Amino acid sequence: MRAYDIIAKKRDGGELTAEEIRFFIHGFAKGKPFVNQEANALRSGDEESLDNGERHCVTDYQAAAWAMAVFLRGMTEAETAALTEAMVTSGETVDLSPIPGIKVDKHSTGGVGDTTTLILAPLVAAMGIPVAKMSGRGLGHTGGTLDKLESIPGLSIDLSREKFLAQVKDIHVAVAGQTANLVPADQKLYALRDVTATVESIPLIASSVMSKKLAAGADAILLDVKVGRGAFMKNQDDAKELARAMVAIGNRLGRRTAALLTAMEQPLGNAVGNALEVAEAIAILANRDECGFGPISADLRTVTLELAARLAWMAGKADSVEAGLHLAETTLTSGAALERFRRFVAAQGGDSRVADAPETLLPQASIRQPVRASHGGLVTALDAMAVGRAAALLGAGRQQKGDPIDPAVGVVIHKRIGDTVKAGDVLAEVFANDSRWQAAAQAVSDAYAIGPGGEEENGALAPLPL
Ligand code: URA
Ligand code: CA
Repeated sequence: MRAYDIIAKKRDGGELTAEEIRFFIHGFAKGKPFVNQEANALRSGDEESLDNGERHCVTDYQAAAWAMAVFLRGMTEAETAALTEAMVTSGETVDLSPIPGIKVDKHSTGGVGDTTTLILAPLVAAMGIPVAKMSGRGLGHTGGTLDKLESIPGLSIDLSREKFLAQVKDIHVAVAGQTANLVPADQKLYALRDVTATVESIPLIASSVMSKKLAAGADAILLDVKVGRGAFMKNQDDAKELARAMVAIGNRLGRRTAALLTAMEQPLGNAVGNALEVAEAIAILANRDECGFGPISADLRTVTLELAARLAWMAGKADSVEAGLHLAETTLTSGAALERFRRFVAAQGGDSRVADAPETLLPQASIRQPVRASHGGLVTALDAMAVGRAAALLGAGRQQKGDPIDPAVGVVIHKRIGDTVKAGDVLAEVFANDSRWQAAAQAVSDAYAIGPGGEEENGALAPLPL
C-alpha cells in the first residue's frame, strides 16, 4: 500500500477502503509520538503483528494533498466512519466502563454565550445520569467551558484519570481538560487543514468532532449543532448535513448518537465572557430570572432543558423526549441541579459558596459601560459573531492558542432580537478592565440592527430524529 495511490484514488473520485484510510491516517499520525495498539506492539517488540502500513510514515505534504482531495471529492458514510475510527485509534481512549450506567456526553459545535454545559452537566447528573466530560478552551469568537469554569476561585480542570473516574462514580459529574494523547491524528490534521483551506469539509469536520467524542468514551452522545451567523454553519441545510454526518458516524461506531440544531444568530445567553457566563448559569440553576447584571436569557434556559430532555431519553431515564423534558424541569426547579453544581465545584477544588454569592466571589471588571440605542424601533439583528469578537477584544477570548484571558470581562446583552427599544435604552453593557472598552462598545453597538420590523429567527429548534 502506498500513500501516493491513496491520494490519487481520492483525487479521481474513488471510494477508499477502511484499510486504506487506516494506513494513511496512522502513517500520518506516526510523525509525532502517539500511543495506540500499534505503538504498544512496536514497543514490546511484537512488530510481526503489524502490517507494512503500521511501519510506514505519511508526510505532512501528502496529508495536505489528501485533505484537499477529500475536500473536493467528499466521502461516503462508510469512508467517514472509517476515517473517524482511524483517528480514534491513533491515540489513547478513555474507558468509562468502570462507571455503572449509561454515560452521556454533549458537544456543541461552538457558539457565543453558549453556557449550556455549565447548567446541563449538574442538571443531568442530578437526574442520575453520569456525565464524564472532556472540554476545550475558547478560541476566536467562541468561549470554552474550561475557561469559564476556571473563573471560579480554586476550581481545577486538571484531573488525573483516576480522580476523574472516581468523581463521576461518586457525584455523576466531572469536567476535565482533554489530554494530549487523545486523538493525536486529529490535532495534526486540523493544524494542516487550518493552513491549507480544507477546514470547511463536512466529512473532515464530522470525523474531527466525532473522533474526540468517541475517544472520550461516552455511551450516548448528543450533538448541539449551531446554525446562524455566529456559528460554523451559516444555514440550516449545511447544519443538517453536518448533524446527519456526525449522527451516522456515532451510530455506525456503536454509540447512541442524536443531534439538535439550535439557533446561533444572536448570543444564546445574555452573558458573553467567562465569569459573566458562570453567573448567568448559576442564576438559571437557582431558578432566578435575574443575575447581578440583568435578566437571564430564556433561550439559554430553553435550549439547556431541550438538551437535558434528550439526554434523559437517550440514557433511558425517560420513555420519551417529552417525559425527559418534564424530568429535567422538575429537577431544575427542585433545586437539585444547583445542589449538584455545588458538589461538582467543591469536588474540583472550587469555592462552592460561589453558587450562593456569585456577585462577590467571581472576578469583577472595573469598568461597566452601557451601550445605548441611537434610535427607537425593533431589534431585527444582533450579530453573535460580532459580540463574540467584542468580548474577545476585551480579553475574554483568545486570538491564538495559549493566549492568557481575563475572566472578568465581556458583554452583557439587555435587548435581544424581537425586543422593541426607545432611543437611549440600554442595549447591552461592556465589562472591561482597560480602555479597550471603547472599541468593544462601538463593536457591540454595530452588532445591533434596529429597524421598523423584521423576521424573528431566534430560538427555532429543529430536533433531528435518532
Ligand atoms: N471543530 C473541530 O473539532 N473540528 C473541525 O474540523 C471543525 C471544528
Ligand atoms: Ca437575523
